[in-house]
Amino acid sequence: MAGRIPQDFIDDLIDRADIVEVIGSRVQLKKAGREYKSPCPFHNEKTPSFTVSPQKGFYHCFGCGAHGTALGFLIEFDRLEFPEAVEELAQLVGMTVPREEADTGQRAPTAPVYDALAEAARCYQQALKSEPSAIEYLKERGLSGEVVRDFGIGYAPGGWDFLLRQFPDSENARQHLLAAGLIAKRDSGGYYDRFRERIVFPIRDGRGRVVAFGGRVLGAGEPKYLNSPETALFHKGRELYGLYEARQADRQIDSIIVVEGYMDVVSLAGRGVRNAVGTLGTATTPDHLKRLFRATREVTFCFDGDRAGRDAAWRALQTSLSEMRDGRQINFLFLPDGEDPDSLVSRDGAEGFAAAMRGRLTMSDYLFRELEGQVDTGTMDGRAALAALARPLIERVPEGFFKALLTERLAERVGLERDRLAQLVGELPSNRRRPEYRGRRSGRISGRPTLVRLAIEIILNHPSTMADTELPERLATIEQKGIPLLIELADIARRKPDITPAGLLERFRGRPECPHLEALLAADSTINEVSEVGTQLSDCLQRIIQSDTERRLAELVAKADDSSLTPDEREELRRLTGG
Ligand code: UTP
Ligand code: MN
Repeated sequence: MAGRIPQDFIDDLIDRADIVEVIGSRVQLKKAGREYKSPCPFHNEKTPSFTVSPQKGFYHCFGCGAHGTALGFLIEFDRLEFPEAVEELAQLVGMTVPREEADTGQRAPTAPVYDALAEAARCYQQALKSEPSAIEYLKERGLSGEVVRDFGIGYAPGGWDFLLRQFPDSENARQHLLAAGLIAKRDSGGYYDRFRERIVFPIRDGRGRVVAFGGRVLGAGEPKYLNSPETALFHKGRELYGLYEARQADRQIDSIIVVEGYMDVVSLAGRGVRNAVGTLGTATTPDHLKRLFRATREVTFCFDGDRAGRDAAWRALQTSLSEMRDGRQINFLFLPDGEDPDSLVSRDGAEGFAAAMRGRLTMSDYLFRELEGQVDTGTMDGRAALAALARPLIERVPEGFFKALLTERLAERVGLERDRLAQLVGELPSNRRRPEYRGRRSGRISGRPTLVRLAIEIILNHPSTMADTELPERLATIEQKGIPLLIELADIARRKPDITPAGLLERFRGRPECPHLEALLAADSTINEVSEVGTQLSDCLQRIIQSDTERRLAELVAKADDSSLTPDEREELRRLTGG
């Protein structure tokens, strides 16, 4: 990968980009007061609840809760990875992305490596046309010319230098091929083609660029599949074979089926099931899940019914728990032993596959089926064991509806009151709704707003107020949730008075605080009059300090009643009471 993108550049980029222009080029926006509106591109609706605020540099949908900056929009809507979105936005505003040099100093430019991969794919496709045995093999496996074309399937001829001969005989070209993982170095000097006498499947990234290949032997032979090595452009744990092609077939993918093999993906596609992607023989990673849920809301893992398949499924479940945010759905489909999606769809067609799909389990069904298989729920001990097994799994699920559902279900199975169980399982969402902050249009932030949150909200929405607001030093001594974040935000805003809310938000991309900040930016705040916010912020900061002082005072007074004050504390109490 190219070097890190400097933060200053992101600041400038966000500042220069016109979010209305970025989104407006993809969605029909209508002006409404100071904002712009349209029906939400992220969910189906008739009345427009998708709002773009040029002041904040932020979009927000009151219907589905989607929100983000111009960069975030490109990531969600164009389904780009972060660096890709930066490139795209930079191109739009006419800036060039600078890269911070990595520690190793020199880095190879990536453009020629992408070019080499694209050229190799072209050569392999060309070679397929003149290799009857390869064409025959693909036909035998039921692949149509259309699928072969859509997926860019090709053939790497035998010999050791087919690919080498397609490129200039220069050291430069060799280095690019090497970086692309297409050739390897001989111990005795010189190079040789990695893929030989194999059907090759190009693996494309989110933008459709070839980043690697998988190669299958014709018929029997070892290894059955040979894959590109990990390179700067290709990380097995991140790419999903067929995701780009699925998105080409259908922009809005309702659901995605995750299968194990290349052949499964292309064979399904050939029968009209164009929403399958492959994990390339690796376990499902959190990165995979993030990419999947960027493209869709429902994912079905499809595994063989054998031992290996079941193990893989359970691992996938464990990886998935922490990604189960509300609105996401994960299912598990187990095929009969000895069957894979390719063999099933080849024999029974799309209909047959759809019929099998109807037998998929929801995540909670699968989870309870597995756990209950391990215990005897007919006994007290067995039910206790069930609770003990389920508890650490449920704890991994983010707060929300799905977690509540799992807890509910466990309570039912274990025969305990929900609230009693909730105590045992730790902090679980309660059925009772917490009061919401009055004056918000969006109910996505729950709980009473604390003063700290209010201060954070003001700085985030109006970073320029920090230009003439004093940040009291006493603040740093307060041990309270959110204070370090408040100070960090205030520091950034003071050093960069021109930073936009969106720019501020981008500083926190990938950090745990980010979703929180996004929600605060999305929630339309009651504080709006720019002239007043400075005063409000100062007030707020003073009140935070005051309430901490009162808290400390109460603590010391209580201790004084017990006559257990240390000399230092007695001195502190005297100071606080002004005595
Ligand atoms: P399978 O062995 O199930 O192959 O491996 P398959 O997809 O059914 O292939 P066909 O039908 O025999 O052609 C599943 C996936 O595991 C990876 C590949 O990504 C393959 O598609 N794999 C398998 C390898 O990387 N190397 C191997 O030697 C075998
Ligand atoms: Mn197979």
